[in-house]
Amino acid sequence: MKCLVVLLAVLTLTQGSGITRVPLHKGKSLRKALKERGLLEDFLRTHRYAISKENSGVGKVAREPLVNYLDSQYFGKISIGTPPQDFTVVFDTGSSDLWVPSVYCKSDACKNHRRFNSSESSTFQKLGQPLSIQYGTGSMEGILGSDTVTVSNIVDSRQTVGLSTQEPGDVFTYFEFDGILGLAYPSLAAKDSVPVFDNMMKHHLVAQDLFSVYMSRNDQGSMLTLGAIDSSYYRGSLHWVPVTVREYWQFTVDSVTVDGVVVACDGGCQAILDTGTSMLVGPSSDILNIQQAIGATEDQYGLDMDFCTSGFQGEDDSQLWILGDVFIREYFSVFDRANNRVGLAKAI
Ligand SMILES: *[C@@H]1O[C@H](CO)[C@@H](O)[C@H](O)[C@H]1NC(C)=O
Repeated sequence: MKCLVVLLAVLTLTQGSGITRVPLHKGKSLRKALKERGLLEDFLRTHRYAISKENSGVGKVAREPLVNYLDSQYFGKISIGTPPQDFTVVFDTGSSDLWVPSVYCKSDACKNHRRFNSSESSTFQKLGQPLSIQYGTGSMEGILGSDTVTVSNIVDSRQTVGLSTQEPGDVFTYFEFDGILGLAYPSLAAKDSVPVFDNMMKHHLVAQDLFSVYMSRNDQGSMLTLGAIDSSYYRGSLHWVPVTVREYWQFTVDSVTVDGVVVACDGGCQAILDTGTSMLVGPSSDILNIQQAIGATEDQYGLDMDFCTSGFQGEDDSQLWILGDVFIREYFSVFDRANNRVGLAKAI
C-alpha cells in the first residue's frame, strides 16, 4: 500500500499573462491579394507546394499517452526511421538527449530491449560524434546519428538520435522502457546534438512552444501534451514561476512547510521539475526534517509492500531539490519554452 503524502511547497509566483500566440496567416492574405489581381490560378499551379507548406507552419498539438509503471516509471511510444522502428522512452525533463539501444550494443540491457538497426532505415544519416551520458541511476555510451522521429502525430525530421553502444551495469536492464527522450534545455545536450523539442520548435511543428505533463495516480490516463496546455487535467489556475537557470527546468522555491510550519528549504532553495526521477529528492538534513514532520521512520526493509512508504529521499551532497514524479502526480506541470517559465496547478 502506498500512502499519499501532502507536500505544501510554497513557490515564488510571478503574474503570468497567459500564453497567446497569433497564428500566421500569410498564405491567406497572399491568396486574397492574388485573387484580386486575377493571378491566383496561375500562382497555385506553380506554387502549390509552397503555399500549403506555409499554412502548415502553425504547428500541431500532440497527445502522447504515457504508461504508468508502478508509479515509478512513466514512458510512451515513439518511432524512429523509415519504415518506423518502435521504442518506448521516458520523456525526461531532467536531461536533453534522445537515445535508444542500437544493434551495435551487446550489453545485457540492450539484449533485453528493442534495438535500432540503422541499416534498415532509408532516412538514417551517420553523424559519428560520440555520446556519453551519466544519469543519477546509470550511464550509457553511444554515437550520434540523425533520422526521422515520430512522437504521436508529429513527424520530426533530421532529428539527432543517440544510438547506444554500451549500457554498462544492471540499471537499464530491468527498466521497462528502451531509451530516454530528454526535454530539458539544449545547454545540457551533447555537443552538436539538437534536443527533440528544440528541433520541433525550430521547424514550427508545435502550435505553441510549450508542453505539459499529467501523471496519473493509477495505471491509466497519464499524458504528455506537446504544443498545448490541456485544462482538463487541473483544477483552479496555473501558477507561473520563472526558470532561473536554463539547463534543467530550474526555479526558486521559497520554503517547504508542513501544516504551515517551515520544515525545510528555509530562506529559499533551487529546485528542478524532473519527470525522469521517481521520488522527491532534497538534502539529507532537510528531508529528515520532513520525514519527522510527517511521522515517517526509517526501517531496514525499505519498500516493504505492507507499509506505507514515504516519497521523500535524502541525498547527502544535493544542491538542487528534485521534484520528481511524486510531486508531478500532485501538480499538473507546464514547461513553457516560449516564456522560460514553469506552470503548476493542482492535478485532477
Ligand atoms: C540490420 O539490418 C541489416 C539489413 O536489413 C541486416 O542485414 C542485419 O542483420 C541487421 N542487424 C541486426 C543485428 O539485426
